[in-house]
Amino acid sequence: MLNIDLTGKRALVAGWLMTAASALLSPRRWPRLAATICLATWPPVLGIFRSLLERGKLDESLRLADGSKLAFERIWPMDADFDSDADVPSAVREHRRYRDCGDFSIAGLTDRLRADFGESCLDIVVHSLANGPEVKKPLLETSRKGYLAAVERGSFSFASMVQRLGPLVRPGGSFLALSYLASQRVVPGYGGGMASAKAALESDARVLAFEAGASGDCV
Ligand SMILES: NC(=O)c1ccc[n+]([C@@H]2O[C@H](COP(=O)([O-])OP(=O)(O)OC[C@H]3O[C@@H](n4cnc5c(N)ncnc54)[C@H](O)[C@@H]3O)[C@@H](O)[C@H]2O)c1
Repeated sequence: MLNIDLTGKRALVAGWLMTAASALLSPRRWPRLAATICLATWPPVLGIFRSLLERGKLDESLRLADGSKLAFERIWPMDADFDSDADVPSAVREHRRYRDCGDFSIAGLTDRLRADFGESCLDIVVHSLANGPEVKKPLLETSRKGYLAAVERGSFSFASMVQRLGPLVRPGGSFLALSYLASQRVVPGYGGGMASAKAALESDARVLAFEAGASGDCV
């Protein structure tokens, strides 16, 4: 049980499925939920996620320690591959899972937050996403494309989120990212550049804390 007072705080969680990461973010760890939570969800899984929510299939995993159920303040689409709408190729924009999502870039997500809640509207941003298309391949067999995709999605996306969402974070706010011990040790089976992405993510977190902390945007 985590004993942290989140009264009046707003958190944005980017990437939330019901696997190990949600164990860390599990509502059960919180004695009560004083914070409001917004979600940014990858468009290909957004429909499935909403449907599971509506059908009550996630109720148990959203149960808080006091027995009440966690409700999300907003659920928006966000694809961390794209910094702005202009970066989105037409094939993606027209894809059936994306075409009704509006601006699902990281800048688009920032605009939605600002439109709904105004400036200085965030306290906590959690980066809980990763995607290595060749994760099952050893590094010795990983392609350049697969490696760069893992790093782009798993680590640069965090820097992009701090760049764009940082100005919305209130003083004393925090950005968090979920790493994995493969960033520092060899974990066979965690390939495709995923270990490199986690190592970059950890290094970037240190540098971003220094830069953004110094600018006063966030800690
Ligand atoms: N599962 C584990 O055992 C474990 C262990 C340590 C760390 N982590 C980390 O926790 C975080 C969440 O992982 P998880 O366990 O939920 O794994 P997961 O593979 O189930 O989830 C990955 C998340 O990333 C999202 N995602 C993928 N590509 C995206 C994109 N382009 N834009 C936006 N979102 C995208 C997916 O929708 C999903 O929510 C990741 O950073 C992962 O590396 C997981």
